[in-house]
Amino acid sequence: MNIKSEREIALMKEAGRINYLAHKEMEKYMVPGMTTKMLDKKIHDFVIQHDAYPSCLGYEGFPASACICINDEVVHGIPSNRKLKDGDIVKLDFTVRKAGYESDMTRTYLVGNVSPQIKQMVLDTEEALYAGLRVIKSGARIGDIGHAIESYAHAHGLSVVEDLVGHGIGTKMHEDPEVPNFGKENTGLVLKEGMTLAIEPMLNLGKKEVVLLDNDWTVVTEDGSPSCHFEHTIVVTKDGYEILTGE
Ligand code: MF3
Ligand code: CO
Ligand code: CO
Repeated sequence: MNIKSEREIALMKEAGRINYLAHKEMEKYMVPGMTTKMLDKKIHDFVIQHDAYPSCLGYEGFPASACICINDEVVHGIPSNRKLKDGDIVKLDFTVRKAGYESDMTRTYLVGNVSPQIKQMVLDTEEALYAGLRVIKSGARIGDIGHAIESYAHAHGLSVVEDLVGHGIGTKMHEDPEVPNFGKENTGLVLKEGMTLAIEPMLNLGKKEVVLLDNDWTVVTEDGSPSCHFEHTIVVTKDGYEILTGE
């Protein structure tokens, strides 16, 4: 398995810091009337200004710098002239490449007055990500992560999207191993110090099933229920993990 050196981890941390700062910057644009294309341009310009590249752009032909999903859209939403409206939830998922190294981060944002139930779901999804992260350390296994996320999700009345997974990350956006958001404890690959992973629960308020739209990119919930998504890039350490997509 691909173990990164201290130097490589430092480079990923720099990519991750720009990713994090771009996310922070986007908070102020989560207002009714803003189009997802305008959000995409803000992300693009911010990343370029930091001498980095928004590597979703052109990835397998993806036409924008960020995947932007609203409400029932789960992943790979294509920025458009759709306007945000009061009560929406918006997921910004984008990668930043700097000096040849990738970072991957997603947050779910609230627009105006979001219903208490959906607000709670957003909080619970972020906590599900942390529940998954908390079991990570050298010697833990991939199945431990999925088990922790799934248990947290189910305890909070949310379903886990199974058709999309987290992943290794490094010089490429997607590397081995796959990191499902469900699973059994004490199964799967054993984690080692220096592995870099993107952990990214996608949780639905309704059923777990998702469908691919005709544009061949955007995935939505089959039942139309809202979906939330949080993602961090981390490195496995001897006793735990370190978040690379942070300050
Ligand atoms: N950032 C996504 C992930 O979490 C991948 C986006 S690929 C793109 O793995 F082509 F849609 F940008
Ligand atoms: Co991502
Ligand atoms: Co990812």
